[in-house]
Amino acid sequence: METIYDILKEEHEQMSALLLQALQDGSRVSFFKVKLKADPHMMGEERIFYPVLEKVEELRELISQAHKEHNEAKTLIFKIEGMEERDEEWTPKLRELKQSVDHHIEEEESKVFEKARNILSQKEAEDMAQQYIEFKRSYMNRIETGGPIV
Ligand SMILES: [Fe+2]
Ligand SMILES: [Fe+2]
Repeated sequence: METIYDILKEEHEQMSALLLQALQDGSRVSFFKVKLKADPHMMGEERIFYPVLEKVEELRELISQAHKEHNEAKTLIFKIEGMEERDEEWTPKLRELKQSVDHHIEEEESKVFEKARNILSQKEAEDMAQQYIEFKRSYMNRIETGGPIV
């Protein structure tokens, strides 16, 4: 069965590809595809994945760093969202976002996942995958119906 690592890793790959696409074509449409992938991914990790890991002393610093990196990405996404494609800062900010996200993904996969594997059992990692999928489903529903994301 699929684990939380499988799902997050697959989304990381999709996110990198979308970021590359956005940088290549410079369009707002492509940027919003990145945002639509990144927002629920980060929120899902913050709600479902990180809280369990944060409880482990050894992982506290790593997860605190991960939160900072998420905030950095969110700030950049917010800034880019407020820009026009022709804005001279569009490409530099998008490039900055890609660097920041690539770095975070690397840290997450090499450090966070590594340590999490020692903490979570196979069953827990599979259960977490289901919770994550469920969270994303309700998140997407709320986006479609315009409801609040709580
Ligand atoms: Fe991630
Ligand atoms: Fe993350």
